[in-house]
Amino acid sequence: MSYNRREFISFIGKVGLGTVVFPKFLVSCGSISTPSNEFIKIPNERLDVLKSVILRGIPASNKDNLILASGLSYHTIIKWGDTINDTDTFGFNNDFTCFIPFDDNNPNDGLLWVNHEYVNPLFVSNFDANKYKNPSLHKTKDQVDKEMYNVGGTIVRIKEENGLWSIVKNDHRNRRITAKTTIKLNWDTPIKGKSTVVGTLANCSGGITPWKTFITCEENYDGFFGETIYNEENIPKHIPSHAYGWEQFYNYPPEHYGWVVEVNPKDGSAQKHIALGRFAHECCTLYELEDKRVVAYTGDDKNNEHLYKFVSSKPGSLKDGTLYVANTIKGKWLPLDWASQPLLKNKFKDQTEVLIRAREAAKIIGATPLNRPEDIEIDPITGNIFVTLTNNKPKNDFHGSILKIEETNGAFDALTFKAVTYKAGGEANGFSCPDNLAFDLSGNLWMTSDMSGNVMNKKDKPYFPFKNNSLFVIPRYGKDAGKVIRVASAPRDAELTGPWFSPDGKTLFLSVQHPGEETKDIKNPTSTWPFDKDNIPKSAVVAIKGNLIEKMNKLDKIENII
Ligand code: FEO
Ligand code: CA
Ligand code: CA
Repeated sequence: MSYNRREFISFIGKVGLGTVVFPKFLVSCGSISTPSNEFIKIPNERLDVLKSVILRGIPASNKDNLILASGLSYHTIIKWGDTINDTDTFGFNNDFTCFIPFDDNNPNDGLLWVNHEYVNPLFVSNFDANKYKNPSLHKTKDQVDKEMYNVGGTIVRIKEENGLWSIVKNDHRNRRITAKTTIKLNWDTPIKGKSTVVGTLANCSGGITPWKTFITCEENYDGFFGETIYNEENIPKHIPSHAYGWEQFYNYPPEHYGWVVEVNPKDGSAQKHIALGRFAHECCTLYELEDKRVVAYTGDDKNNEHLYKFVSSKPGSLKDGTLYVANTIKGKWLPLDWASQPLLKNKFKDQTEVLIRAREAAKIIGATPLNRPEDIEIDPITGNIFVTLTNNKPKNDFHGSILKIEETNGAFDALTFKAVTYKAGGEANGFSCPDNLAFDLSGNLWMTSDMSGNVMNKKDKPYFPFKNNSLFVIPRYGKDAGKVIRVASAPRDAELTGPWFSPDGKTLFLSVQHPGEETKDIKNPTSTWPFDKDNIPKSAVVAIKGNLIEKMNKLDKIENII
C-alpha cells in the first residue's frame, strides 16, 4: 500500500501541541519516500543520541522504586492528596495525563489534566474490601463520598523553572472534576430522563481534541453503580456494582456512565459524547480531516470486545456523524446505524439505544472480538493506527500484542483497512500486557505495560520473567529499529500510565499508578513509594528529563522504518 502525501495538518497525538506539526507522512511500504523540503528532518547527531544513550535499556526489576535508564532522571510534580488550591486536593490513582501550554511559543507553562481512574478504599475511605466482600452492606455514606471525590480528573497549572516542573497552587484554573460534577450530555434525546447527569468515573486514558480541550474516558464504569443487562426477550435487569456499591446512597443509572467525556480547560465545563457509544472506553484518539471533520478512534477494554471509529459529518462535531465498529478479519468498518441496519432495527428501538448498548449492537452486525483494546495512537511517520491489545487470558493470550491498522489509501475516514500484528508480547520481545502508547517527536514509540498486581512476580504465573511493570521505547529506525527497550521499571504493584511528551519533547510526563495496590494491612504496605514519612504509597505524576529525543529537524537518509 502506498500512502498519499496528504497533509498531516494537525497531528496532536501524545506529543503535545502547537510546537511540532508533522506536515506529511514520510514513508510508503516501510521504506522512505523521496525526501523533500516539506519534511521535518532529523539531524544525524540526534540519531547518535538515540542510539548511544536512550537505548541502553535496564533489566527487569522487582524493586520497590521507579528505576530509570542511565541518562534519565525524574522529579515528582504532584501526588495523591496534594492541595491544588484552598479547597481541593489531587485525586487517587492517576492515569492519563495531557499538558496544554497557554502559549505555543512557551512550552513551559500551561495546564496539566490528569485522570483519576478508581480508588483503593483501604487508603481512601478506610473501608477494608478484604474484610467485607459486599461493600453495599457495610460502607457509610461518608465513605462513599470520599471515594466519589477521589475519582474523575484534575486540572492544575504547572510551570517549568530551572528544569523542574511544579504546580502553581491556587491558580484560578486549578480545579477538580469528580463523581459529583454536573455534566451535560451532547445528545438531543435524554438518557434515563436526563440531559444533564452527575459525575464522571473510571477515567482511564483519554486524548485531546483539535480545538485543545481534554478528553477523558470512562472505562470500568460498572464497578461503581452497576450495569443494566438484557435477556433474550430484551427485558432489562440491574446488576449491582461489583466493587464500590455507591448505588446504596446514590441512585444514578448505569446508563449515565461509560462515555467519552470532554472537559474545557478554561472553565472545567464538561460534556459526554453519546455519539461515540457506551462501553469500557480506554481512550479516544482524535484526528482532524482537511475539511475539519473529526475522526475518533476508541476501544472497549474488555475480553472479546471491539474497536470503534467515529467519523463526523460536520466540522468539529462529536455528535453528528457515524459510529463504526471494526471487523478486523474482513478489514471493514461497520456502521452502527439504526436507520440503515435492519438487524439493529429488529433489536433496538432507536439510535440512542444502539449507542447505549453498543456492545450488543456491535456483535449483531459482525464486529470482531478483540483481546482487550487499550490505548490507540496515530503513527506520525506513516499515519497508521497502533492499538494495544493487552491480553485475553481465557483465550490463552497472556501477553497481548500491538495491532497496526492501515486505513485504505491512508484515509482516516476510509471504510476499509488492513490489520496486522505490529509486535507480539512475550519473552521473545521482552514485554507483556501492553497498555498506553505515545510517539515522541522523532516518531519512536513509547509503551507502558499493565500486568495485574496479583499476578506479577509470582513464580507460578506466566508474568514472572517480566518482574515489575515498565516503560519501553521502540526505536523506529537505526540499528535498534523495532527492538523493545525497557527504560523504566515501576515501584511494586504499580503500573506506569499516561505518558505524554511536552511540546518541546524535553519532558515526558508519566503517571505512577497504584503502587502498593496489593496491600492488605495499611501498616505494612507492599510499597512505600514515593517514600513519604507516613510510609503510605501514593500514585503520583512525575516529569522524566534527560536524554529524551527532542525534535525531528532533518531527515537525510532513513531506511527500514519499522
Ligand atoms: Fe484502565 Fe484499560 O486500563
Ligand atoms: Ca489503561
Ligand atoms: Ca490498564
